[in-house]
Amino acid sequence: MLATLVLVGSLAVATAAEDSPRPDVLVADFEGDDYGGWKATGDAFGDAPARGTLPGQMPVEGYLGRGLVNSFRNGDDSTGDLTSPPFKIDRTHLNFLIGGGGWAGETGLDLLVDGRVVRSAVGPNREPGGSERLKWDAWDVKDLQGKEATLRVVDRRKGGWGHVNVDQIVQTDTPKIPQAATRAIALEKRFLHIPVKTGGPKYRAKILGEDGRPIREFDVELAAGKPDFFAFADLDACKGKTVTFRVDEIEDPKALDGIAQADDVPDAASLYKEPHRPQFHFTSRRGWLNDPNGLVWRDGEYHLFYQHNPYGWAWGNVHWGHAVSPDLVRWTELPIALYPHEYGDWAFSGSAVTDRGNTSGFGKDGADPLVAAYTSTGRGECIVYSNDRGRTWAEFAGNPVVKHDGRDPRLFWYAPGDHWVMAVYDEAKDRQSIDFYTSPDLKAWTFASRSDGYFECPDVFELAVDGDPNRKLWVLTAADGKYRLGTFDGKAFTPTSGPEKLTTWHGNFYAAQTFSDEPKGRRIQIGWGQNVTFPGSAFNQQMALPVELTLRSTKDGPRMFAEPVEELKSLRAGSKEFGGKALEPGAENPLVAEAGDLFEIELAFRPGSAKSLELDLRGTPLIYDVDRQDVVCKQVRTFVPQVDGVVRLHVFLDRGSVEVFANGGRTAVSVAAIPDDANHSLGIAAKGGPVELEKLTVHALRSSWLAHPGP
Ligand code: FRU
Repeated sequence: MLATLVLVGSLAVATAAEDSPRPDVLVADFEGDDYGGWKATGDAFGDAPARGTLPGQMPVEGYLGRGLVNSFRNGDDSTGDLTSPPFKIDRTHLNFLIGGGGWAGETGLDLLVDGRVVRSAVGPNREPGGSERLKWDAWDVKDLQGKEATLRVVDRRKGGWGHVNVDQIVQTDTPKIPQAATRAIALEKRFLHIPVKTGGPKYRAKILGEDGRPIREFDVELAAGKPDFFAFADLDACKGKTVTFRVDEIEDPKALDGIAQADDVPDAASLYKEPHRPQFHFTSRRGWLNDPNGLVWRDGEYHLFYQHNPYGWAWGNVHWGHAVSPDLVRWTELPIALYPHEYGDWAFSGSAVTDRGNTSGFGKDGADPLVAAYTSTGRGECIVYSNDRGRTWAEFAGNPVVKHDGRDPRLFWYAPGDHWVMAVYDEAKDRQSIDFYTSPDLKAWTFASRSDGYFECPDVFELAVDGDPNRKLWVLTAADGKYRLGTFDGKAFTPTSGPEKLTTWHGNFYAAQTFSDEPKGRRIQIGWGQNVTFPGSAFNQQMALPVELTLRSTKDGPRMFAEPVEELKSLRAGSKEFGGKALEPGAENPLVAEAGDLFEIELAFRPGSAKSLELDLRGTPLIYDVDRQDVVCKQVRTFVPQVDGVVRLHVFLDRGSVEVFANGGRTAVSVAAIPDDANHSLGIAAKGGPVELEKLTVHALRSSWLAHPGP
């Protein structure tokens, strides 16, 4: 009876809201050049809405239009109020977007009637980290309809998350109250396809097993409308069971309707044939990649593990993706190798080795295990091992093996001392270093020494100068590719190449690593082609080409050279020679038009009195500036001196990049460049004087994705 009475009491309103919602009434969208009738006090709000992110702030997302209230003006320590003119409440709810600090009474939005706070809301953040994304929230104001009210944005807090963001306040009969959404899925197939809208609202999703425990937990920009692409979760182990896909707070639960199951990965038939898909650089089938990890050769396979977000186009949800290749050129992507230990405890970068002689005891049946070290962000440096060719990995029970502020462990065997070494990035407030630890068994580690002045992703290896086994030097390098040469006694690195770091690589290149146990004894390196982006695609970022590193004598002393691995020659699908003549300024372009898609160019020229030599690579200019002796491609300018009057450039053009190896690999350049889709031609022109072309060989290349590799 009571229930009926209550229902009757609110019937008129409920009918208005549910049957025929009245149109929304905008209270404020903060799109103007000032706050309109809103009045600001203090120094946190300024005199006009912010246009997005303010200096020093993490990226602010999720607001509508161009403007929003953002009290991070002058940083977290500024404070103040921003109060609206009075308005009449004449809808059942108020919807608004809110973000920033989650401090009740200190960072939030208040609704006031008769001078009293009758509703209030705060942002979601109180801990370091978090997100500046604004989220929808709503107040039920049925009981206040007809009343005059004001809104007040308050920022009365200094320090961490001492600010608030607000936008798009609307009177409405259709509240945007976040709610939990679940969908039970009886899994008959291996993959769940998950619709993603890049840049859309991001949710924390869980895939729960029959016992209610999460099998997967990740952040995803779940698309409610048309997705940009489908990500996928490989749930092979759960086939035949019912899993529950759950999002604790979502604006539109219909987004879960778009999840589907399938036997293959999304768009399997068009995989690797997408318009901007690099054809001979490694990219992941779906999502984001960054650093190469765990590069190791074993039993006929080169393993490329890599930092990977399988569920989104941008960095996040850090897993180790996995691919293998027989030849460093043709890659097959395998299932994910390392999952986050738990939500938010991510699998950051690391390395892998074959534990020869099974020093760890992790090996089975007389075989040496593969052992990897990686940073578990919630625990420290951890050891995992595999006895099935890197397909599955088990955790060492004694993890973490090193606990410190740092990351990116690099393992290697130091034969003269009969022990393992871990080089790992370590940071404190006032310094950044590479620290060396030693171990007899990959399990117990002892601090040995510290080399100051390096940042993340160390790599350490020994190379023979000019191939002379009696003249070996050690290389210590880190993520920016800069290196020093020196000696290493199993515990400490002593530089001999002077205080200045040296560089081979330039441009879009970062966090490179070299292979352990390369069967031909070569030192092969793969770097991350950092910021080689593919807007609008289902994948993002690529690996740079694999290169062989050597140390060679130069007039400046021994230097590291990087040349593309010889296996890349297997991609050549037809070559033409255009060299052996002078190219006059104004001469007709001697190169073939409509030549193709992917190219390798070997060029040696004498610039003589010319001002420049300009290549046109399907619309991307690659210029040699003779006065400055620079190679210029897009925003990357690199010094490449003439050697005895000659410049040698070895150029690779793929669908996302241009790479240049200059003067035999003395200098290497990686440049993000998406060629003009409609332009398939190459051009070459001399400016300001003739250029002697000693060699100009153009190779058309074939795709390395020979067939669609299985999952
Ligand atoms: C380098 C890096 C590493 C870290 C990883 C996280 O690009 O920041 O230091 O382990 O990326 O993805």
